[in-house]
Amino acid sequence: MNMALTASLLADATPIGKLGTDLRLQGISKYYGDAAAVRQLDLDVRAGEFVTLLGSSGSGKTTTLMMLAGFISPSEGKILVGGKDVTRLPPSKRNLGVVFQNYALFPHLTVAQNLAFPLEMRGVSKVEIKRRVADGLAQVQLADKAERFPRELSGGQQQRIALARALIFKPQALLMDEPLGALDKNLREHMQLEIRRLHRNSGATVVFVTHDQEEALTMSDRVAVMQDGGIAQIASPNEIYDRPANKWVAQFIGQSNTLHGTIARSVGKGKFIVDLEGGATIQASGPDTLKANDRICGILRPEKIALRGLAGLDNDVVNSLTGKVREVQYLGHMVKLAVEQANGIRMQVVAQLQKFADADVWSEGSSLTLVWDPESVWLVPDSERSS
Ligand SMILES: Nc1ncnc2c1ncn2[C@@H]1O[C@H](COP(=O)(O)OP(=O)(O)OP(=O)(O)O)[C@@H](O)[C@H]1O
Ligand SMILES: [Mg+2]
Repeated sequence: MNMALTASLLADATPIGKLGTDLRLQGISKYYGDAAAVRQLDLDVRAGEFVTLLGSSGSGKTTTLMMLAGFISPSEGKILVGGKDVTRLPPSKRNLGVVFQNYALFPHLTVAQNLAFPLEMRGVSKVEIKRRVADGLAQVQLADKAERFPRELSGGQQQRIALARALIFKPQALLMDEPLGALDKNLREHMQLEIRRLHRNSGATVVFVTHDQEEALTMSDRVAVMQDGGIAQIASPNEIYDRPANKWVAQFIGQSNTLHGTIARSVGKGKFIVDLEGGATIQASGPDTLKANDRICGILRPEKIALRGLAGLDNDVVNSLTGKVREVQYLGHMVKLAVEQANGIRMQVVAQLQKFADADVWSEGSSLTLVWDPESVWLVPDSERSS
């Protein structure tokens, strides 16, 4: 991205401190030859919302963000900012702050001058600029680097300055493409909190790109999980995690046990009896669209399973499976187990240690019972097996 473009974008005439605006992508596609980088994508971001595009490499995150910013023009579809059609407008006319990985600092300006630039363009007073630049530098923990040139900073430090520069004029929406990618874990977590705080205080709309699930789940109001140039699911972090739309999303986000089986019958709203392959019958929850005889996958997160010794199962336990411990991974505050049933099916379990006084329960080779609530298994259609 060239310097002239950077300059024109930062110099845009948006008043400072305006509240967030809504962003909308309608039927957006981007083709390179025959290949679609993004296909028929719809996305509505509400004013002041923090939405994260999460997906693996090549899923179309950067292309989507670049189309929103105006650096790439879509092959088809419409882009609206605050209800206004900006599809044909250049980046500098879209009133958006951007932090892209290759979105360079001005090499001939010091760090302080880089930060001052967008403020000078907006006619902010010298005294106010000085104050804001000092605040901005403190925010990214680089107060001592004000007089350095970008080439005298590490990659991560340059990234933090770029972030401070995008935030300094309080844009009504901020687009960020992996802005924390080059930072080490501690600084990354600090900056995550910082960005969230800035988001809360400014009311700005944020579209954030990451391939880090934890980052997406902790930071966002909603997460859009991207797959092959489209959105596989967009929902709140806990909905994405607890009620994934399909098997692909379930396996992409976090760890899960995938139980294969067939729905025997529905027993109330979103509740089902399921016959698992291997013979067991369980109760589970899922979308109302499922019906008897559907092939399904039950998604069961390892940390939602509780362990019991073979004796002493409570009467009210609905779902249980018995097996032998095959692997033990001790993690200090918790333990990860692989438990194999007689039919060979393995389950991953993550258990909090303080709940188990009896260490024998989770030693290799011991037999134990896994129990979980019907609400803890989420059913999705078994896309690979249904006929
Ligand atoms: N200029 C281009 N010409 C041809 N293909 C492109 C071009 N830019 C991107 N693509 C292709 O479009 C797809 C989406 O790319 P994009 O950069 O949006 O992915 P991404 O989700 O940001 O990935 P990453 O996590 O690696 O940054 C990829 O398959 C990529 O190879
Ligand atoms: Mg990318």
